[in-house]
Amino acid sequence: TVGNSTNIFWHECPVTKVDRQKLLNQQGCVVWITGLSGSGKSTLACSLGRQLHSRGKLSYVLDGDNLRHGLNKNLGFTPEDRTENIRRVGEVAKLFADAGLICIASLISPYRKDRDACQLCEERDPKGLYKLARAGKIKGFTGIDDPYEPPLKSEVCSLAAFFMMIQSIFQIDCDQT
Ligand code: PPS
Repeated sequence: TVGNSTNIFWHECPVTKVDRQKLLNQQGCVVWITGLSGSGKSTLACSLGRQLHSRGKLSYVLDGDNLRHGLNKNLGFTPEDRTENIRRVGEVAKLFADAGLICIASLISPYRKDRDACQLCEERDPKGLYKLARAGKIKGFTGIDDPYEPPLKSEVCSLAAFFMMIQSIFQIDCDQT
C-alpha cells in the first residue's frame, strides 16, 4: 500500500542516478539550511549556489518563501501546514538529488521531527554508521539513541565553518563573500 492507495508499483528507469552523475560529473546531494526567519538562510543558499555555479557544478535552491508562491501556495503556518511543507520539500529535494543536482533547501524547518523525517544524513550514511546504530550494534549514536543539541545561538564563525565544509565536500575553493 502506498499512502491510501493499493496497486501502485515502482518503475525502474534504465538511466540510473549513477549514469546521470557521470554525465554531470558531480554527485547529487541535498544541503538543508534551517534557521529562524531573518537569520540569512536564503542569502547563504544563494551564495553557495553562485559559488557552485561558477565552478561548473549544477545546483538548485529550494527556498521556502519562493516555494510558497507555487508548490506550497495552499499551505499556511500552522504546525500541520509547516510539517506538510517540509515533507513536500524533502521529497522534491530527494528527486533533485536523484537527478544528480546539488539541491540547496532553505526553509525555517522549525520542527526537529520534520527535519528528521527527511532522514538526509541517515540516507547518505557514507560510513554505514546509522545502519549499525539502528541495528543496535553501535550504542550512543548521535541522532539515534543519543541527543544532538543544535546551537541555541549561531556564531559568526559558523559561516566560515559552513564554507569549509562545502569546500571539503565539493572539493572547491570558496571565497566567503
Ligand atoms: S517553515 O516554517 O519551514 O514552513 O517556513 P518557510 O516555508 O521556510 O517560510 C518562511 C518564510 O515565510 C514568511 N513568513 C513566516 N515565517 C514564519 N512564521 C510565520 N508566521 C510567517 N509568515 C510569513 C517569512 O518571509 C519566512 O521567510 P524567511 O526567509 O525565513 O525570513
